[in-house]
Amino acid sequence: MPLAEICSLNSQFTSQTPRERVRDAIARFERIGVAFSGAEDIMLVDLAVKARKEVCIFTLDTGRLHPETYRFLEKVNTHYGIQIEVLFPEGAAVERLVTEKGLYSFYKDGHTECCQIRKVAPLQRKLVSLDVWMTGQRQDQSSTRKTLAAVELDTQLGEDRPLIKINPLFDQRSQAVWDYIRVMELPYNPLHQQGFVSIGCEPCTRPVLPHQSAREGRWWWEEEAHKECGLHIINTP
Ligand code: ADX
Ligand code: SF4
Repeated sequence: MPLAEICSLNSQFTSQTPRERVRDAIARFERIGVAFSGAEDIMLVDLAVKARKEVCIFTLDTGRLHPETYRFLEKVNTHYGIQIEVLFPEGAAVERLVTEKGLYSFYKDGHTECCQIRKVAPLQRKLVSLDVWMTGQRQDQSSTRKTLAAVELDTQLGEDRPLIKINPLFDQRSQAVWDYIRVMELPYNPLHQQGFVSIGCEPCTRPVLPHQSAREGRWWWEEEAHKECGLHIINTP
């Protein structure tokens, strides 16, 4: 899709509601998938399943998620009568990393290498079969997402294989997302009741205190500007 079309889709989506964005995106694109992390992006899953029940929803199982998140993913399947596609990292690559550096190398040399193996590579394998992917990213989630757009050009598979990345919740505040979850009585990850705001892998996520930003609970030993795991590398300065 040429850049001009992405710009026009972006201006259309910017003036729409999240429900309209998801509905129109799913109606327009055949090879589209929804990336679900097992957190409050359940709102995106809800909108997508209501737009088209058979829509592809996938999650990246890094092998390091909380038990609560695994149970929640299963609960979502039952709740909607769907089957979330679970993507795994390449076994040999994980074995190599853990053999060479141990199970907690990210505390010593940063999260990039582990995230690349456990998240980014499996994501890219999936993206090969898609033209468009949707995420639950929002501007209010971190300083790296402040200027996030509704629609982005994603060239992570190469300049000659552009993807469209749609963020239907880009302008929603956390309060609005949680209002939706409560009013619509959606299932949610019980970790949210224990002070977790942003939820990722177990060793790299911790609860935050009142008025701490959500991202302070993620990769807390690293600087804010480096807190993108590679899934959303286009947000990094
Ligand atoms: S992360 O890149 O820092 O981990 P974050 O947890 O804020 O991302 O989630 C933002 C969006 O990225 C989610 O709504 C989802 O679309 C996608 N995402 C993050 N982690 C996963 C995951 N494990 N599986 C699938 N999608 C994910
Ligand atoms: Fe590895 Fe932590 Fe990244 Fe999960 S978030 S893939 S455990 S570095």
